[in-house]
Amino acid sequence: MISAVIFDLDGVLVSTDEFHYLAWKQMAADEGIKFDREINEHLRGISRMDSLELILRNARRHYTEEEKNGLAKKKNKIYVELIQSLKPEDMLPGAKRTVEELRTGGIKIAIGSSSKNTPSILNQIGLTDYFDAVADGNHITRSKPDPEVFLLAAKRLNKPFDECLVIEDAQSGVEAAVSAGMQVLGVGSASSSPQATIRSKSLNDISVLDWIKSNPVMDYNKKL
Ligand code: G6P
Ligand code: MG
Repeated sequence: MISAVIFDLDGVLVSTDEFHYLAWKQMAADEGIKFDREINEHLRGISRMDSLELILRNARRHYTEEEKNGLAKKKNKIYVELIQSLKPEDMLPGAKRTVEELRTGGIKIAIGSSSKNTPSILNQIGLTDYFDAVADGNHITRSKPDPEVFLLAAKRLNKPFDECLVIEDAQSGVEAAVSAGMQVLGVGSASSSPQATIRSKSLNDISVLDWIKSNPVMDYNKKL
């Protein structure tokens, strides 16, 4: 039985994914590097430095480690400015209801995000006190598709991995959850992921609590 839900943040609870895109786009334009929405899709769930490495594959010259750190810092500065405008109303449709429904239904909830900006984003959208545990980019060394962030979230919730459902919008995140032995609800860009246990275009179209209740006994080996 699922007793805990681990939420990805960007693209699941709040649409910061668009701000990541805009910030990388500006950095890439300043450097004369090709960057578009298709390349951006591959950055979902991927850490800042790993994202930069992917973007630099299209660069016409080599960048030193020092230059790379400078570019990542520059991107983050643009991004941090963009997220200053975030408000609770910017939460994605169905996100707040899902969080509240699960809490009321006795399900433990956590954040499992690669972002080092997780604490300030939760603060901006007024969700800081809603979660039983937070595992984010500040606490891990390997980003999705590595399962580290989800395993840490489960540990912080004191829940076995096979009682956790992950909600993800990134293919890298779906893979991370599967590697952690967890079930996954794929939303947004991951709503067509064949590896997801269940899929929904948006949290607005599903009651996660009802789904959990209607699946009291899962054959985990069969599912995974
Ligand atoms: C999330 C986003 C990624 C982002 C990563 C790191 O997983 O989906 O696009 O690169 O967090 O974010 P940060 O705020 O630490 O740069
Ligand atoms: Mg995401």
